Order: sequence, then structure tokens, then C-alpha cells
Amino acid sequence: MKAIQMSAFGGPEVLNYVDVEEPVPSENEVRVKLHYAGVNPAETYIRQGGYAFFEPELPYIPGFDGAGVVDEVGPGVTRLKPGDRVFVSSSLANLTTGTYAEKVVCDADVVYQLPESISFEQGAALGVPGTAAYRALFHRARVKPGETVFIHGASGGVGLLAVQLAKYIGAKVIGTAGTEEGIELVKQAGADAVLNHSEPGYLDAIPSTTDNQGIDVILEMLANVNLVKDFTYLNKYGRIVIVGNRGSLDFNPRLAMGKEADILGMAVWNAPIDEYNESLIGIEAALKNGGLNPIVGKIYPLKEAQKAHVEIIEGKAKGKMVLKINEK
Ligand SMILES: NC(=O)c1ccc[n+]([C@@H]2O[C@H](COP(=O)([O-])OP(=O)(O)OC[C@H]3O[C@@H](n4cnc5c(N)ncnc54)[C@H](OP(=O)(O)O)[C@@H]3O)[C@@H](O)[C@H]2O)c1
Repeated sequence: MKAIQMSAFGGPEVLNYVDVEEPVPSENEVRVKLHYAGVNPAETYIRQGGYAFFEPELPYIPGFDGAGVVDEVGPGVTRLKPGDRVFVSSSLANLTTGTYAEKVVCDADVVYQLPESISFEQGAALGVPGTAAYRALFHRARVKPGETVFIHGASGGVGLLAVQLAKYIGAKVIGTAGTEEGIELVKQAGADAVLNHSEPGYLDAIPSTTDNQGIDVILEMLANVNLVKDFTYLNKYGRIVIVGNRGSLDFNPRLAMGKEADILGMAVWNAPIDEYNESLIGIEAALKNGGLNPIVGKIYPLKEAQKAHVEIIEGKAKGKMVLKINEK
């Protein structure tokens, strides 16, 4: 089968489009014929080597997320059968192969049903971003209906799903994006208001968009840039969840004291397995009953994974980026 494989850590050029042997499922594993795979910033960190949460053995086929059809089940698998439309979310699974490939083999426990109403490219948008959005909102911030949630960086993979999940449970949601196209997508996801984080003074609109009620919870996609200003309109006892960060900053801890605010780290890699499974069950349910409808952005053919890795870091987010693998 065709796959993207890396035999060294480094820049995007280490991602090679090659022929590899088809993987075979063992006990409690399934093989999924993939139509699309999700591309996440984390896969570029892993590609470079030295990523704190995951350092694979080489050669390595990247990718944790994807969607397609089950084509073989190993002994002991009863929940899934060949022909099932599914999504794969394998970041915490015992991975034999990655999803940047025509087929993936993984633990049956991280493969979930995809309703007919959700396309395969949408299914590939779930995995890491879905479990991150769910964990940040519900396991870390413990968001409640009626609270106001500010999604600082809402136009990408995690942000758009977080907007939908927070709206689904009855929160008020303000999102940000850095382009007009991104702003439209965040509105389409259901945000009550959208601000442009590329414009100076964009936070000044928060009092009028919240009827001066302020913000209870912030999901932060770029903490090194935004953490200090996040405190401006955060309410007393507010919670900030650090989802994304690409550097360090000068921070006065008095900001947190003054509001008795909680700064909460989040990394899906740290999720206890029962909470991880709970998030996938929640995502599967939200897909079925209309709470989640992933918004896909740029689609690259599998063989152009190198370009996708450059774009996910350097480009502006316009929905979730995916790789196209097989025709439906
Ligand atoms: N902790 C975890 O477990 C976990 C899991 C998944 C992702 N992440 C991290 O979370 C971040 C987002 O992931 P993703 O998959 O959503 O990536 P993505 O699809 O590439 O989206 C990136 C998001 O960050 C926004 N952004 C850019 N500049 C910003 C700024 N100055 N202030 C606020 N937001 C800004 C982008 O907006 P525009 O492009 O519109 O400007 C976009 O909404 C990444 O750093 C990723 O590594 C962490």
C-alpha cells in the first residue's frame, strides 16, 4: 500500500511517499481502509524529533487521525465489523502504523462509528482536535451551560470543534480568527461573536459582546502571545486552558492571584484512558445528534504531505486540514 514514511527526524523533506506492506490486525485490533487522514501541528513537532509527548521508533508512518471503512477485524473484536464507516482517533493507542497511509491498524477501542450524515473528510477532522477540544472544555475547564467561553484561535482544527461543543451544551461563545475567511467559518460553527486577533485592540469589543458580563473560560491556542492579555476581561474565579503554546513569555503571577483564576495545562497525551474514552463516546454522540459537524479546510493529496506540514505551521487556518487518500 501507499504511505508516507519517515526514516529520519527533520524538516518536511523527511516525509517520503513510499510502498509499504499492508499491516495485519492482531487480537483486539482492526484494520481501516482510510479515505482521509487529519493533519495536526503535533505531527510536525514529532517529525522534527525531541517532542516531549511522543518519540516514535523509525521508520515511522505519521498520523493519528483518519476516517474510512473497516476492512478486517482481529480476533476478539465484536463492536466493529468489516464495512462499518468509522473515524480513528489513535493518539493514545498502541499504534502499529499511522494514518498517513491507505490502511491503518489500531486498537479497536479508538475506532468509532461515523454517522451517514458525516463525510469521511469530516471524520478525519475529529481525533486529536476533537479529543483536545472536549478535554479542554469538559475535563479541564469544567465548562457549564450559561457560562461565557472565549476561544482564542477558533478557526482551526481544535477551535472550530470547541465552538460547536461549547454551544451544544448551552455556553455563550466568542471566538477569534486572523482572516475574514476564518471569521466566517467561526460564525458558521455557531459562535455568538467573532473577533479578529490580527487587528490591534480587538479585545476592546469584549465588554459590548458580553453585556459587560466578562469571560468565564478561555481556551488558548497561542499562550506565549496571549496569556497576559487573556486576564483583561477574565472574570473572578475564571479558568484559562492552555491548549497551544509556541514560546515563553514575561508573566506576573499577580494576575492570577487578583482574580483567583486557574491556569490549566492540557495535553491530550496526558488524558487518563477512561477520560479519553469518555471524550470519544461524547464525540460520537454529538456527531449523531447534530452537536458536531466538522468544518474541513484545505485538502492535500496524501503524496503532498510535505506541503501540508509546511502549511499547517506557516499558513492561516481555514478549517481543519486533511489529506485525501482513497476515492470513496
Ligand atoms: N494540548 C494539546 O493536546 C493539543 C491538541 C491539539 C492541538 N494543540 C495545539 O493547539 C494549537 C491549535 O491547534 P489546531 O489543530 O487548531 O491548529 P490549526 O488548525 O493550525 O489552527 C491554529 C489556530 O491558531 C490560531 N491563531 C493564530 N495566531 C493566533 C493568535 N495570535 N492568537 C490566537 N490564535 C491564533 C489560528 O487562527 P488564524 O490562522 O485564523 O490566524 C487558528 O485558529 C496548536 O499549537 C497545536 O499544536 C494542542
